[in-house]
Amino acid sequence: MKLTLPDLQEKLSRWDGCTLSKNAKAVLGEGNPNADVLFIGEAPGKREDELGRPFVGAAGKFLDELIKSMGWKRSDVYISNVVKYRPPDNRDPTPEEKTQCMPWLMLEIATIKPKVIVPLGRHSLGHFYTKLSISDAHGEPYTLTEDVTIFPIYHPAAAMHNGGLRQALYDDFSKLQSFLEASGIRPPAES
Ligand code: URA
Repeated sequence: MKLTLPDLQEKLSRWDGCTLSKNAKAVLGEGNPNADVLFIGEAPGKREDELGRPFVGAAGKFLDELIKSMGWKRSDVYISNVVKYRPPDNRDPTPEEKTQCMPWLMLEIATIKPKVIVPLGRHSLGHFYTKLSISDAHGEPYTLTEDVTIFPIYHPAAAMHNGGLRQALYDDFSKLQSFLEASGIRPPAES
């Protein structure tokens, strides 16, 4: 059976395989089902938990701005998280919570089939490359397979704690834009 994003949403809402699901709302990714570019953050925060949508708080507003800086729109891409529930007090997700939620990210990737995956920050990068650190790897493309490139970038929330990272994030998005252009990857036709 071919799964669609609404199927995933419906199945996740009935799932209780993560210890965080008792106290938080399920937040699947959202965006263009035909997206070639998939952004993956860490876990929902307070606003995301309230609205049941990813990246809709302060970090999300900055992410939207960064996407616009490439001449793309939020509706051109797909945005998700490694962990699908808000950890209490926005603490880091544990390795167990990341493992428990992993099937949903894998199903999202299998459904969308992105050409470029952008891990935002170390939790998400660790899903693809356990030995790379985000401070070394950000802003460079890594070929995962013939069809998929991983392009790590700092998490937008990091710039809220460390103002110096704001420019680094704009620089990385400019490199991502050049990489997409050189690869002939453009926003999907209808978005
Ligand atoms: N930070 C994340 O990693 N994900 C969100 O959805 C919001 C903030």
